[in-house]
Amino acid sequence: MAGRIPQHFIDELLARIDIVDIVDAYVPLKKAGRNHQACCPFHDEKTPSFTVSQQKQFYHCFGCGANGTAISFLMEYLHMDFIEAIEDLASRAGVEIPRDAIQSSAANNQSSELYELMEIVTGYYSKQLRNHSQANSVINYLKSRGISGEIAAEYELGFAPPGWDNLMTELGGSDGAQKRLLKIGAIIENDRGGYYDRFRDRLTFPIRDQRGRAIGMGGRVLGDDKPKYLNSPETPIFHKGRELYGLYQARKTLKEVDSLFVVEGYMDVIALAQFGIRNAVASLGTAATPEHMEKMFRVTSKIVFCFDGDEAGNKAAWRGLENSLPLLKDDKQVYFMFLPEGEDPDTFVRNKGKEAFLDTNLQTPLSEYLFSYLSKDKDLKSLESQASMAKITLPFIGKLSSAPALSSVLVRKLSDITKIPPEELTVQLREYKQTGSIKTPLHSSGSTFKKDDGQQSQLTEAIKLLLRKPELALDDSLNQKLAEIEVRGIEFLIEIVKYIQSNPSTTIAGITENYRDREKIRNRLIELAPSESQYGDADFSDESIRDSFLDSMNRLKEITIDSRLREFGNLSNMDELTEEKKREWRLLLEAKKQLKMAKS
Ligand code: GTP
Ligand code: MN
Repeated sequence: MAGRIPQHFIDELLARIDIVDIVDAYVPLKKAGRNHQACCPFHDEKTPSFTVSQQKQFYHCFGCGANGTAISFLMEYLHMDFIEAIEDLASRAGVEIPRDAIQSSAANNQSSELYELMEIVTGYYSKQLRNHSQANSVINYLKSRGISGEIAAEYELGFAPPGWDNLMTELGGSDGAQKRLLKIGAIIENDRGGYYDRFRDRLTFPIRDQRGRAIGMGGRVLGDDKPKYLNSPETPIFHKGRELYGLYQARKTLKEVDSLFVVEGYMDVIALAQFGIRNAVASLGTAATPEHMEKMFRVTSKIVFCFDGDEAGNKAAWRGLENSLPLLKDDKQVYFMFLPEGEDPDTFVRNKGKEAFLDTNLQTPLSEYLFSYLSKDKDLKSLESQASMAKITLPFIGKLSSAPALSSVLVRKLSDITKIPPEELTVQLREYKQTGSIKTPLHSSGSTFKKDDGQQSQLTEAIKLLLRKPELALDDSLNQKLAEIEVRGIEFLIEIVKYIQSNPSTTIAGITENYRDREKIRNRLIELAPSESQYGDADFSDESIRDSFLDSMNRLKEITIDSRLREFGNLSNMDELTEEKKREWRLLLEAKKQLKMAKS
């Protein structure tokens, strides 16, 4: 993909455009007080709960919780990817995206040349399927697998004829042409510096990206030769971890993509299409990556992993689960469909038919699969196995950072299974999210947990206030104050403060965009972002926000002091302290007194 777009550019871009205009073009807005309103485009509703704040350049829906910046809106509503959204906004604002950020324009021209060439190669192979003297071999093969001419045409199946240089002779007429064919992986260089065709005597499956550009291809042998399948290598225009075979065709044929089946092979996609199931895609010989998941969730809210009924299929399913968790939202679902051993979607639909394949009884919800997979070898009767089940399951639930409802349902279910009270599991879960591990032992009956002095809630409060009023970070004395605070997670607050200090005109929109690559943090920030009602008119004056923020800082400092004081323990044996320690202790007490005085 393109290089990074500098954050300051994104910030400036967000400052130049107006989210109200952008949303209004697709979802007509009505002014209501300070905000603009409409019925939410992300869920069904009769009365408007979707509001757009001009001041904050942020949208928020009370009904479904959708929220974000103008960039998020274009991504969610128009299914653009991040770069497309930036390009779109930049062209509206009439600004250039910094040269070194996207590919340089030379590289861009080169890419478009490669796309064009790939298109020509695709066309060449599908023409061979119609015209080549030996095309019968493929046509018979397709017939033997039940593929009609219509489906073959729609998926642009082709024929790479036998021979080492059919494509080379046709398209590799000059040095430049050969270099370009090599770049798209259509030919291979041999030891002597010559070239030969990559795809020979194979059925070809062209791969298009979502915009319909030809980017690569796969090829299957007609007999039992090895390898059975060949794919284009990674090239400047083809990245396996990002593309899904069949997604372009699915979106082209279907108006609404209610769900997507993720299958393993090209032929699975084709066979399902043949049976009228047009919403299947294949990840290209890799397990579904987070990028795949994100791509799919942009066009549908339900993904069904449908893997072969073998060991490899099971492994792929579990990988799919792991990659889905961070991307799940309460309105997005993942299911798993396990085919009988030895079957794949192609054979299944052929043997049992369309209705059988679509039977939702075959689809196991992610939550069920998660528990059954993790409890496979456990009896769950002993306290130990219950505690261990909780310990291995919580980290998975902890990854559901964008699906709070699902997360709490899973906690309840885990509690049923392990007999550990849900409150206790919730404490563990929080601990896991904050520290990345679970240290407090799990008990199977009520126990008391050490409170964290409210430090996390103070920290959260401070971040909330900062998001509401980023200028708070520009206070001269703030850095000094922050340096004196030692509580878990303070680095995060410091990081946001630093960001605001180096981008003083940023808004909450800019701050969350800065974390686009760090999903977990970004989601957390969006969660903490003040909701529209809190933006509200008179209830929070600038002064009172500033006061609350200073108050939070003082509380955090007090917590730091208290915890340092606690380290001194019971001071009946004051004499054992070194002079230095004694001085430290007095300083701490003094600081505490000062804080108390400042408060009253
Ligand atoms: P059919 O035998 O045509 O039904 O293929 P299939 O789709 O059932 O094949 P399989 O389950 O063996 O493979 C699933 C997918 O893995 C294929 O569509 C390919 O993308 C990939 N694959 C399979 N075999 C090979 C191989 O030999 N090399 C490479 N690179 N990929 C393969
Ligand atoms: Mn198969």
